[in-house]
Amino acid sequence: MTTTLPAPATGALGLGSTGLAFGCDYNPEQWDPEVWVQDVRLMREAGVNLVAINVFGWSHVEPRQGEYDFAALDRVIDLLHGAGIGVDLGTGTASTPPWLTTRHPEVLPVVADGTSRWPGGRQAFCPSSPIYREHALALVRATAERYGDHPAVKLWHVSNELGCHNAHCYCDVSAEAFRGWLRARYGTIEELNAAWGTSFWSQRYADFAEVLPPRATLSSGNPGQAIDFDRFSSDELLGHHRAEAEVLRSLSDKPVTTNFMVAAHITALDYWSWTADMDVIANDHYLDHRLPRPHVELAFAADTTRGLAGGAPWLLMEHSTGAVNWQPNNIAKAPGEMLRNTAAHIARGADGVCFFQWRASVQGSEKFHSAMLPHAGTESSTWHEVVALGGLVERLGELRGSRVTADVAIVFSWENQWAADLEAHPTTALKYLEQVHAFHGALWDLGVTVDVVAPGAPLDGYAVVVVPELYLVRDEHAAVIADHVAAGGRAIITFFSGIVDDRDRVRTGGYPGAFRELLGVRVDEFLPLAAGDAVALSDGSTGSVWSEPVALRGAEAVVTYASGPLAGGPAVTRNTHGQGSAWYVSTVLEDDARRELLRRVLDEAGVTPDPAAQPGLEVVRRRDEQHEWVFLLNHSDRAVQHTEAGHDLVADHPVTGTTVIGPGGTQIIRKDRKRS
Ligand code: GAL
Repeated sequence: MTTTLPAPATGALGLGSTGLAFGCDYNPEQWDPEVWVQDVRLMREAGVNLVAINVFGWSHVEPRQGEYDFAALDRVIDLLHGAGIGVDLGTGTASTPPWLTTRHPEVLPVVADGTSRWPGGRQAFCPSSPIYREHALALVRATAERYGDHPAVKLWHVSNELGCHNAHCYCDVSAEAFRGWLRARYGTIEELNAAWGTSFWSQRYADFAEVLPPRATLSSGNPGQAIDFDRFSSDELLGHHRAEAEVLRSLSDKPVTTNFMVAAHITALDYWSWTADMDVIANDHYLDHRLPRPHVELAFAADTTRGLAGGAPWLLMEHSTGAVNWQPNNIAKAPGEMLRNTAAHIARGADGVCFFQWRASVQGSEKFHSAMLPHAGTESSTWHEVVALGGLVERLGELRGSRVTADVAIVFSWENQWAADLEAHPTTALKYLEQVHAFHGALWDLGVTVDVVAPGAPLDGYAVVVVPELYLVRDEHAAVIADHVAAGGRAIITFFSGIVDDRDRVRTGGYPGAFRELLGVRVDEFLPLAAGDAVALSDGSTGSVWSEPVALRGAEAVVTYASGPLAGGPAVTRNTHGQGSAWYVSTVLEDDARRELLRRVLDEAGVTPDPAAQPGLEVVRRRDEQHEWVFLLNHSDRAVQHTEAGHDLVADHPVTGTTVIGPGGTQIIRKDRKRS
């Protein structure tokens, strides 16, 4: 597997409806049939038009091997169809039924220490298991034969969040599949030995039969083996998606997708290599309160999903009305926050927004997870907010298919994350995603919209490209960045970039390897800082976590170190390269200093922040030929003012002159482009 670029943009979601999708996961199997009738009535009241069902339906639809019982699903689909609600039909393969794991315990997943994981939760299967695959595909076939042409079905939902729990399986079946994948990649065992650097610690293999997954070791393991196992594992799950999709496409012409997890806590899949297989790009996103600014991470996830969609509209398949149940502290949403989060996804390109889930469960491990219809029922603030939101999403239907544009791109790579965050590196304090979030978050603060792109993606049209900690980089991908600068663009590249090739082999002759010439600097040693230590910088700020003796080889120093062994030496540099400039950042900057640096580079590139943006106020614009929709999201606890004039679709009234948005408030203002 190599990182590939997203499929070209394909226009609107193509789910057959007009307007935006608004909906939810629905698990009717948890309820009596009388409740279904009430549910469908209430769904209409809330404006729901797309419902994901049968996501966890396997043990109901196939209670015993080969015995299918679709009666309940028939009824639910007909009820939804009768109410004009489209169905996102799950293939039901995400959670194995007890009969399968009882008869075939060999499908169970095995973790790195060699112990298997039992059924009782979900995703209790090895992604490489041929037995699991055979049974899953039989179910998919039976389901597609029955519903492939059903007019209610708008979308196929393969499995669910593939790899959420079982991304890596270390069993013997996986080991054999891994060997097959390695044979295909390397051809000969000599080539594998070269790729993994097995001359180190007597690891040379004589035969593929000796190769194992990176099971738990006493010392640090082989990094090449670890990265290849990550690549293999992502490919295996994609292979499962493909197998299900192939059955679906042979029996139905409805679009096929699976829900991605572009999130801070799940990073096992290289979605850049998945996009070409999706008819619709769909993502699940939950605010992560373990992070300092969950709503800013939301913006990053949404920008990344738009990147995966190649700039085209995408579907938010799941988010929550309130608290989840799987974080240490499950924080409820404040009044207005659900609306703000929904608007943030739409602002950044979603043409549909759905929740997990419709009706809050009363049993099972998700019973304390929020829902559109909470335990309290319709006499609840959540329900009232949901109904109001449904009305707003309907009004927002007019912006379907419109686009977000950005002058700035940030390069992001899951493959790089696997490599950069491996053990036995100069410091464990450096976490790739934190560095990416830091730069994306700084641009968010400045009111600059950013596209998230894969390494190697074309950079034409971007004035500035930001490259945080791109440790692993292929020559041709580094060349795209250098060419961009040579042609007049700007690049900001940070420490610990360009260090290794795709075999995790260090580029010698001075860091930052692949970017040394572009940046006009040379570094001969890493000087990570001790926990809590900081180094003074000439602009009055401090650097932390990382520092480097930067020798200038054509670049000029912009900021220098002002204390410690590097005092007087360059910390931030600028190099003219062709028509553009390449900036190097050799330490972790404070937030203010990072923003200041970005401001300077943006200024040089002629990029201006959104005029309406101000501290705490997120501003994003979507446009089509005629209109611009300005999303103004006040994340702060004070009122803010702006002068955008047009029609506010949230309050559904015109705005002119100076408008105030109260704490936590949201406005979405439609403007006529010809007049604006
Ligand atoms: C998702 C999953 C849903 C539900 C939800 C709870 O990861 O797809 O089935 O578990 O999380 O937040």
